[in-house]
Amino acid sequence: MSRRLRFNAFEMNCVAHQSPGLWTFPGDRARQYKDIGYWTDLALILEEGRFDGIFIADVIGSYDVYGGSNGAALREAAQVPVNDPLQLAVPISMVTEHLGIGITASTSYEHPYLFARRLSTADHLTKGRIGWNIVTSYLESGARNTGIPLRPHDDRYEVAAEYLEVIGKLLEGSWEEDAVLADPARRIYADPAKVHPIRHKGRCFDVPGPHLCEPSPQRSPVLYQAGASRAGIGFAAKHAECVFVSTPTQAALARYITALSEAAAAQGRQRHDFLVYALATVIVEETDAKAQALYQHCLDHVSTEGALVLLSGWTGADLSAYAPGDPLAKIRAESGLSMLERFADQRDWSLADLARWAGIGGAGPVIVGGPETVADQLEAWQETTGVDGFNLARVTAHQTFANVTGYLVPELQRRGIYPRDYAPGTLRQKLFGQGDRLRASHPAARFRHPAAMAEAPGPHLVPPFS
Ligand SMILES: Cc1cc2nc3c(=O)[nH]c(=O)nc-3n(C[C@H](O)[C@H](O)[C@H](O)COP(=O)(O)O)c2cc1C
Repeated sequence: MSRRLRFNAFEMNCVAHQSPGLWTFPGDRARQYKDIGYWTDLALILEEGRFDGIFIADVIGSYDVYGGSNGAALREAAQVPVNDPLQLAVPISMVTEHLGIGITASTSYEHPYLFARRLSTADHLTKGRIGWNIVTSYLESGARNTGIPLRPHDDRYEVAAEYLEVIGKLLEGSWEEDAVLADPARRIYADPAKVHPIRHKGRCFDVPGPHLCEPSPQRSPVLYQAGASRAGIGFAAKHAECVFVSTPTQAALARYITALSEAAAAQGRQRHDFLVYALATVIVEETDAKAQALYQHCLDHVSTEGALVLLSGWTGADLSAYAPGDPLAKIRAESGLSMLERFADQRDWSLADLARWAGIGGAGPVIVGGPETVADQLEAWQETTGVDGFNLARVTAHQTFANVTGYLVPELQRRGIYPRDYAPGTLRQKLFGQGDRLRASHPAARFRHPAAMAEAPGPHLVPPFS
């Protein structure tokens, strides 16, 4: 297969993720998100559809920017209540053999020493199918509740860079490849000479090590990131193996991929060193007419207020203070400026237009039609932008993904641009075909050499997790 299109399922351990109000759609299962069967059923649908992975978003804190309270978020179940994403990894891995399992975790709240152990454990138990979506967080309410102040936007990326350094040292370097002997005859499990302290002393973290876990199949999970600002793109260009992006138009996506590729080239990375997945929502049915009817039916269930709740959280601007007809240019965003900038092509859009757009599937496009129509459009997006694949948002559970697997995937397979089977191996091996571990050129690979873990000189400032 010379050209190939990829799918990821974009999910969250909650009721209303990207399509507020749709949990009221007849037959929707989102209210069952607390049941393991809900997730294992979904995982089977995705593996049958040869999705690269399921990706579970997460936020720390509730969406209380809109109207200055969390009332609307709770009424709409807009990403709250929200359960822990990582706990879904093992049950999903038990019913599937290949599906990648991506979890989101923030570098702003959980200490990296603790998080490193949770990552290694999940990678062990899933036999190397874990990915990590590295986020820096944007909700003030998370900061208030943890007592860890939300740093300014770009500073959060600096903390994230050091956080990754600690994780890299623990996962990549602390335990040598042959540290575990597991030799009952000699009564030696691990050779202490091959388990190293990491001696990290940085601006924010002071972690002597060693790591608590022995090396897992991938050591580092596959690293995903979704930076869109200048600082975010710089971070993704350096660290991410897979990049998520959400843009409303092909032009905005093409601009993003160009900017990201240039930033990556400045780091000595080639375009094929990372994969880009664009957010999209696909409403596919047996025929165009049936898909359009389903779409109209879905629109009847969108909650505009729910969309404004989410948009307020993403942008940091209380959108209840604006009139529906206000132009986007009038909105002053505190945290999510890059999100509004991606709508720059829609200069004449009002707030109501934005809420309507985001009500189904968030900021990405909604593609509606029978299998051929949708396949044509996805191919067009790929041809004009060079995107590797799509991060598909759900409209209704589990109909959206069941229809992709049942109607769209066979059409793409018929066109020879979608795999009929999974490649063997860990998630990283499946995605890149170059082994289970981070490439030798990745910044974290340098920590494989104990000499690279000597104490870093420099100022030791306030730890964020004290
Ligand atoms: C597809 C996609 C998924 C994202 N998932 C999350 C998430 O689960 N949790 C989170 O806090 N941020 C999430 N983000 C936000 C990004 O991490 C990032 O903050 C955002 O794209 C803005 O970029 P910037 O931080 O460079 O301004 C996501 C973004 C995109 C595009």
